[in-house]
Amino acid sequence: KKEVINIPDKTSISSKGYTITTKNGKTYIDGILIVNKSYGISPDYNPGLNNNVKIQAEKMFKDAKNSNFNMYIGSGFRSYKKQNKLYNNYVKIDGKKSADTYSARPGHSEHQTGLAIDVCASDMISGIKYPCVNSKFDNTPPAKWLNDNAHKYGFIIRYPKGKTNETGYKYESWHLRYVGVELATKLYNNGNWITVESYYGITSVYS
Ligand code: DAL
Ligand code: ZN
Repeated sequence: KKEVINIPDKTSISSKGYTITTKNGKTYIDGILIVNKSYGISPDYNPGLNNNVKIQAEKMFKDAKNSNFNMYIGSGFRSYKKQNKLYNNYVKIDGKKSADTYSARPGHSEHQTGLAIDVCASDMISGIKYPCVNSKFDNTPPAKWLNDNAHKYGFIIRYPKGKTNETGYKYESWHLRYVGVELATKLYNNGNWITVESYYGITSVYS
C-alpha cells in the first residue's frame, strides 16, 4: 500500500523574517531546501545523491588524508521507502519516542534530499576503523576534524551538540548537510555550530 501524503503549497514568514516557501512538496528558505520535523518532503522526491555533494565530499576526503584519515560515505541518499523501513525498524527496537530522537520519520529525512551524508573514517596508518554512524564517533580525531573543516567544503554539522531543542535530534557528529560554503561558514561560528532552525527562525517539531 502506498501512503498518500499531500504537502500543500504555502508561503509564510519565519520568526526571523525569512520567507518560507513550500511548493511541489519541497520547502525552501533563501534557496536552501529545508527538511526537518516541521517541514517534510514529498515521498516521490527521489533525486539520488547530489552531484555537487559528491564532488565536495571527495575534495574534503582528499584533504582529510593529509591528517591520515581515510573518510568515506557511510550513508548518502536514502529514498522515502528506505527511510520508512529504517525508521520502522528503530521503532520496533526502541519505541517511537526514542526513535524520534535520532531517526527521521519517512518524508522527514535530509537523506532523501540527496544533500546529506553520514561520514565514516579509518586511520590510514593503523588501519583501525573508527565507530561509524554511532555516538562513539563523537570524540574521535576525525569527528573533530569534520567539526573544524566541513564548512570549507560547504557542509554543516546539521545536528550539533547541545542543540536538540532546536533541531529535534540528538547530536550527530557524523551527519553533514550540504548548504554551500557561504552559509556553512556563517553557521560554523568558530566550531560552536549555529543550527539551521536558529539561523532561519523555524521550528523542528512533528505536527
Ligand atoms: N538520523 C537522521 C536524523 C535521519 O534519520 O535522517
Ligand atoms: Zn545522517
